[in-house]
Amino acid sequence: MILSIESSCDDSSIAITQIQDAKLLYHKKISQERQHSVYGGVVPELASRLHTQFLPSVLQDSKEFLGDFSKLKAICVTTQPGLSVSLIEGLMMAKTLSLSLGIPLIDINHLIGHFYSLFINDTKVIFPMSVLLVSGGHTQILEARNHTSFRIIAQSIDDSFGESFDKVAKMLHLGYPGGPIIEQYTKDYTKDLLSLPIPLKHKKTLEFSFSGLKNATRIAIQKEIQNLGLQEDYKESTQMPQESIAKICASFQASAIEHICDKLHRYFQASTIQSFAIVGGASANLALRARIQNLCEQYNKKLFVPSLEFCSDNAAMIGRAGLEDFKMGYCSDIMSVDISPKNISDRFV
Ligand code: KG4
Ligand code: ZN
Repeated sequence: MILSIESSCDDSSIAITQIQDAKLLYHKKISQERQHSVYGGVVPELASRLHTQFLPSVLQDSKEFLGDFSKLKAICVTTQPGLSVSLIEGLMMAKTLSLSLGIPLIDINHLIGHFYSLFINDTKVIFPMSVLLVSGGHTQILEARNHTSFRIIAQSIDDSFGESFDKVAKMLHLGYPGGPIIEQYTKDYTKDLLSLPIPLKHKKTLEFSFSGLKNATRIAIQKEIQNLGLQEDYKESTQMPQESIAKICASFQASAIEHICDKLHRYFQASTIQSFAIVGGASANLALRARIQNLCEQYNKKLFVPSLEFCSDNAAMIGRAGLEDFKMGYCSDIMSVDISPKNISDRFV
């Protein structure tokens, strides 16, 4: 069995994966969303302190589940990219376990982990596959050729898809993380949408950009505040009628998804890879899934998505990625392995 640890942002998670059949035997995560929500985003120092509190308690729980750790053959841990003060908590725990149990340590790239969220409980991995990674930190189109080669085809030049949801939710004082909250507001809204821009619509490149749309949404919110005669510095979402919030959320989400689909449309025209996947925390967005499903049908691509449980950060995907490394005999040098908050990976070309 492999024990995996994920602590790159605001989730403290541990999983145990069976080597023989990739079966997920144990998985637990403690989310810090509630603690960060009051600040409208992740506070790094708070995240770090909460990891020191939550990770040992999840580890203790996993030990009670197994009885003891004698059946473990490797420890996998996310070392990049992510928040430095959060990554370090997971790595220190992983090093301690690896040294005390005398088993190898395998460092895992978080983004490759998201790719493997598609194959939890599954021994077969499909290559080549084109992947849209939409998370709080990244918006990328990747081509996964094999376990050691992930090519970045396009990425955001500024904010990420998930981050723009978080920022719009913050502007509306709706809490954190913004993605699920905004999606919830859009669900029953069927009336007219505000006219917000579709980013980089006339550019032929595949790059993404969300900061312009975020600012256009900010201006739309200010206009709505003026039209409703609210105080400019209103603080509570309850002060704005639910219908106004829903209209802003639905208009923003529609433009953000349109932008993704516009670029994917261009990418599909040039790509011959038949398998396509959406991964990352924001791949849980059902409207995004539905639009991409339509696009895939149009271009004869087979769409893969992770189960909703494994879209956001979790240690199960880290264990599944680590299993591939373990099978290839790869392990890290415990003395030199370190966190790399900004690095993507040397597996990305
Ligand atoms: O992958 P993830 O859990 O963490 C990172 O690696 O960043 O992704 C979290 C991001 C947050 O920005 C969150 O708002 C966004 O994913 N997200 C969503 C939805 N659920 C989570 N964005 C849009 N729609 C959703 N339903
Ligand atoms: Zn993530």
